[in-house]
Amino acid sequence: MDPTSLQRLVFLTSLLSCSTNQARLTVTPSSSQVFKYKPVSLRCEDASDGWTVRRNTSIDNRAECGVGWGRPARSSCTISYCDPLDSGVYWCESTEGSTSNTITITVSAVFLQSPVLPVIEGDDVTLICRTKMADPPSADFYKDGVSIRTESDGHMTLLHVNRSDEGLYKCSIQNEGESPESRLSVSEKPPTTTMDPSTSSSSSSSTMNAPTTLSSLHLVFRLLRHLVVFCPYCICTYIVVSLYRERARGNDSVSMTMTPPTHAEQRLDVDYDDVMSAVTTEHQF
Ligand SMILES: *[C@@H]1O[C@H](CO)[C@@H](O)[C@H](O)[C@H]1NC(C)=O
Repeated sequence: MDPTSLQRLVFLTSLLSCSTNQARLTVTPSSSQVFKYKPVSLRCEDASDGWTVRRNTSIDNRAECGVGWGRPARSSCTISYCDPLDSGVYWCESTEGSTSNTITITVSAVFLQSPVLPVIEGDDVTLICRTKMADPPSADFYKDGVSIRTESDGHMTLLHVNRSDEGLYKCSIQNEGESPESRLSVSEKPPTTTMDPSTSSSSSSSTMNAPTTLSSLHLVFRLLRHLVVFCPYCICTYIVVSLYRERARGNDSVSMTMTPPTHAEQRLDVDYDDVMSAVTTEHQF
């Protein structure tokens, strides 16, 4: 094997190892919403040594775990008592500057639990004002900054929502604080011919579809990743086979070349024909 193809092989191998060695940031407990004073643990998975957790917040910029925030341990980082100032974007970074996925964490004493997906016109929607206590206490609800209702059990139900219910909602609990705002989107009801009980399940089917789409997307991504890993092997095999064939062809080049016949060869052919005809005529006797 000549040096250039060896270089190509080394390049493809390094490409291969790069595509499979990518760190991933995970968070425990597995939620982007963290209650104030609760702990959170961030871990760089599939990472070798030298990867650290970094963050951007309203007060930090690319701040490394252990420098002003968090307690580092190998490739993970723990915040024992989260504060609203810990809200921000977190990621893993290697000493060479490679980065992982990012996770956005919001810390608050109060969260408004609302549907993530658009709700369908005509559905009933319940918004729940949550604190770290299991049962929500009495809460005030706001829409687009305006107080709309107070509910003693922390649950606000909007009956038969329509487009006018769209907006930014938040809630507040006395002595605890306010939740971050959440957007409620209402999508038009898909046209149906009959009004049977199945219409009530339309919203649940739309919420069921999202994970399936996500998992199929994940599947496609995994397939692509495997292809990326598999391709260099195919290319290497192709290079090796073509090199081998090139060498084999190089050895028999004398007998295998297909150049157009030269005048000398043509004359030889003519001579050969003459001889043959002479032989055949001789045999005719
Ligand atoms: C963090 O902040 C820096 C400087 O503002 C910015 O360049 C970088 O893109 C931010 N990183 C993330 C993951 O948001």
